[in-house]
Amino acid sequence: MQFLAEGEDVISALHHYALEVPDLAIADAFLQDFGLETAEKDGALIAACAGRPQEQVRMVEGPDKRLHHVSFTLGAGTLDTVREALERAGTPVIEFPAGADENGLWVRDPDGTVVQLLDTEPTPPRSVPEILINSGSGRQRIGSALWRDLTADVMPRRLGHTLLFTPQPARMTAFYTGVLGLHVSDTIHHDLVTFLNAGPGDHHIFGFISSTHPGFHHASFEVPSIDAIAMGADRMRTKGRAAGWGLGRHTIGSNFFHYNPDPWGSWIEWFSDIDQIDDCWVAGDWDVPPHLWGAPPPQTFLSNLEPQRP
Ligand SMILES: [Fe+2]
Repeated sequence: MQFLAEGEDVISALHHYALEVPDLAIADAFLQDFGLETAEKDGALIAACAGRPQEQVRMVEGPDKRLHHVSFTLGAGTLDTVREALERAGTPVIEFPAGADENGLWVRDPDGTVVQLLDTEPTPPRSVPEILINSGSGRQRIGSALWRDLTADVMPRRLGHTLLFTPQPARMTAFYTGVLGLHVSDTIHHDLVTFLNAGPGDHHIFGFISSTHPGFHHASFEVPSIDAIAMGADRMRTKGRAAGWGLGRHTIGSNFFHYNPDPWGSWIEWFSDIDQIDDCWVAGDWDVPPHLWGAPPPQTFLSNLEPQRP
C-alpha cells in the first residue's frame, strides 16, 4: 500500500543502529579494533567515526545480543508528511525504548523492530582527499607515488547501511517504501535479499535478508579506498580477531567489501566504491551470487543467531 505521494522521499539517511549485548566491555574493544571511537553515554556505549560527531552505533546491556532499534534521519520539512503517512497506515507512535535517547518520532515496523525517525540533517561524512587512479584508459595520477599516501587515512568515514533479517520481506518492504518513502534498488532471488535506497546517493542504505525470524545481519561503514579495507582487515587479524569474508567486490551495489564476524554471530563491514544511483535508477531482480570475485561467503554468513522474539 502506498501512503505517500508517488516518489515522495521521507527518510534521508541511516543515522545509527543499536544492539542489545550481554557485555559492553567486549563491544567496546571490538568497535575500537574495527576503527570507531567509543564513549559512554547514560549507561550506553556509543561509537562514532573519528572526526564526525554523529552517533553511528549504540550498544545497551541486555541478556542476549539482539537488535534494539534502527534510526533514520528525515528529509527537511517531511515530519508532518511522515506523521500523516503513519496515521493513514495505522502505525502508532510509541514511547522511546529504555536505553535510547528520546529525540524524534518512534514507531515499530511490521516485524516489531523499534524505529527512530529524527527530524535532523545527517552530519557530513568526514572529508577525505580524492584518490587519483589509473584504471581502464583513464590516467588521473601522474608523477606521484600512490603507496606513500594510502596509509595516511584508512578509518571509517560514515555508517553507510545496515541489513536486517526478516521473516516477511514483502510486508517490510511495503512499510519502508509505502510509509517511510524508501525505494527498492534491487533484489536477489525475488525476496531473498532486498536492497533499499533513500533517493540519489548510495545504492542501498537499508535492506532485508529472508529468514525464519527478525534479527540484525550486518552494518557497513565507508572507508576511503579498497586499500583501507584491506589494511583494516590486516589490523583485525593483527589484533587476533576471527577471519571474516573478503576482500571481494559485491555484485549488487558493486562495492568492495570485507566483513568481520562480531562477538555475537552477526557481521560488520567496511566498503568503498559503492554504486551511486540517481532518480532514473530502475530496480532489477537478479539471480546472482553476492560477490563478483573473491572467496564465497562462509557457511555461517546467513545464520540468524538472534533469539526469537517473544
Ligand atoms: Fe553490506
